[in-house]
Amino acid sequence: MTRTPITPGQVARHLRQQGELGGNPVFLGDLSAEEALLLVVGGRDKEISSKDPGTGADGVGTPPGSVLPDYEALRSEALACSRCNLAQTRTNVVFSDGNPSARLVVVGEAPGAEEDRTGRAFVGRAGKLLDLLLGTIGMARESSAYICNVLKCRPPGNRNPLPGEMEVCSPFLRRQIELIVPEAILALGAVSGQFLTGKGLPLGQLRGEVYSYGGAPVVVTYHPAALLRNPGWTQATWDDLQLLRQVLDGA
Ligand code: URA
Repeated sequence: MTRTPITPGQVARHLRQQGELGGNPVFLGDLSAEEALLLVVGGRDKEISSKDPGTGADGVGTPPGSVLPDYEALRSEALACSRCNLAQTRTNVVFSDGNPSARLVVVGEAPGAEEDRTGRAFVGRAGKLLDLLLGTIGMARESSAYICNVLKCRPPGNRNPLPGEMEVCSPFLRRQIELIVPEAILALGAVSGQFLTGKGLPLGQLRGEVYSYGGAPVVVTYHPAALLRNPGWTQATWDDLQLLRQVLDGA
């Protein structure tokens, strides 16, 4: 299939159209526009995902080679975790989605309702937009990205993570990144950006620079849920993704 890169204008138009469908975010109300864009950028390329040896049927996947036992042990530990009170309110621990052998690790804040229900990271409305954004730089979720969060369990009512929750949960993320050894990390939103850069700055001030976490370059951008509410941030998000693409290209 020939892949034509999509433009920030197309992403913005798509977000605007979705906004026009009603006050309540109905990003998934009509999938046809999104599906078309995903087809253009290859985000749903079954050929790629079926050839991907690292991704299991549940989309969580297992990395190849010597990393496997450690990764599986870490995942099992997280799935059984009761280090904080979120263990009492969660439906599922959301360890990851995508390909654990990917070059890119994407880090969000914490699972939402749909992620809590399914046990997979970024599968709700924000996740659909994330797929679209990753597609703009040729990084399909199934083959090229490993997607996870700072917190592995959903905070009730989607409230912000508490400092104590981040403290006990973040060692899972640290270890995930150590085991995956990505070529780049994309931080989505302020919670992830602040954690991975170690800087307590607002998101607008974190963007535009390349940081380092565990030896991997880190680029920070808007959380897709925030972008859904603020389509005016599309160009800035686009610029951040171009920076990430340059980092991945070794520029
Ligand atoms: N928002 C996040 O930060 N992570 C998810 O997995 C879903 C929504």
